[in-house]
Amino acid sequence: MADLLTNGTVLITGGAGFIGSNFIPYFLEKNPNVKVVNLDKITYAGNLNNLNEIITHPNYTFIEGDICDYALVSKLFKDYDVNGVINFAAESHVDNSINSPRQFIKTNIEGTFNLLEIARKYWKEKEYRFHHISTDEVYGSLPKDGYFTEDSIYQPNSPYSASKASSDFLVRSYHHTYGMNVVTSNCSNNYGPKQHDEKLIPTIIRSAIKGVKIPIYGNGKNIRDWLFVNDHCIGIDKIYQQGVTGETYLLGGNNEYDNLTIAKKICKILDSKIPKENGSYLNQIEFVQDRLGHDFRYAIDASKISNELGWKALENFESGLEKTVDWYLNKYQS
Ligand SMILES: NC(=O)c1ccc[n+]([C@@H]2O[C@H](COP(=O)([O-])OP(=O)(O)OC[C@H]3O[C@@H](n4cnc5c(N)ncnc54)[C@H](O)[C@@H]3O)[C@@H](O)[C@H]2O)c1
Repeated sequence: MADLLTNGTVLITGGAGFIGSNFIPYFLEKNPNVKVVNLDKITYAGNLNNLNEIITHPNYTFIEGDICDYALVSKLFKDYDVNGVINFAAESHVDNSINSPRQFIKTNIEGTFNLLEIARKYWKEKEYRFHHISTDEVYGSLPKDGYFTEDSIYQPNSPYSASKASSDFLVRSYHHTYGMNVVTSNCSNNYGPKQHDEKLIPTIIRSAIKGVKIPIYGNGKNIRDWLFVNDHCIGIDKIYQQGVTGETYLLGGNNEYDNLTIAKKICKILDSKIPKENGSYLNQIEFVQDRLGHDFRYAIDASKISNELGWKALENFESGLEKTVDWYLNKYQS
């Protein structure tokens, strides 16, 4: 299997999004014999500028298109002799899924199904690998204690997490029914450079430096586990190369913080980097109406990937957050 995975062509979907655009440069450098075809629809969430550093890389090809387009994806499998898929493409913002869920069903469920069907049709080798990128949100909400593991029951609560759960089940079924060589990874909230402005951390930084209110849902007590995106990329590469077929791996950063604490930490970093004349950025924090059906807490027990594949998150949260703030300051101030 190692040969197929370290040579050949991998179809990476959604590679112009936050995680994909951090992953592709890492993956190309780590695997110099692998070619990457990045298929991305460039929705409002995709940004090709995030891939400027590898745009002329000889092993990189970009194709603008939709994972739901059967003819296009089939042509890519044929023309590029695709022998691996890493599926990042998704509608990813929970709030959008609450306001207009239809596109989540289309891309996240139907799109994943389309990729699986085409892989089933074209792949003669059982070794060709399909890696599906998913989220810890499929497991629902935790109380104050306890952790999600690979054995946790699926209890998705939002249209977003329900669409991701559906896609996970489709991937699972292609392994059990057709023997496809699949792996699925479910990770906690990522943070780092290149994330879309709509997400929590960029929103906090942008609002702070613009001098407007920093909106925090409800009472700010909802807890997420935060994983630095580079650590996630290292984990994805490991799972793609070494994960056991049919298995699921959970990745987490072991950084549990509630939203209010995240906002306060960022304000303190900003206070030290670009102090305001009239007080602290902390004064801009304001509670706003809570998200509908807001899950209380997500937390990950990542012992399986740690024990079996030797992965653990390396970035310290304080330094990761500072790097992240620096990246967005550069973006928003230039
Ligand atoms: N960001 C996180 O914290 C997080 C956490 C856990 C899991 N995930 C999962 O990781 C994956 C990537 O997340 P992200 O944060 O990078 O998302 P993102 O929204 O930043 O990027 C998604 C990318 O997919 C593309 N896309 C959307 N619909 C498409 C379609 N129909 N065909 C082709 N391309 C399409 C977009 O243009 C964009 O480039 C998603 O599957 C998401 O569910 C993300």
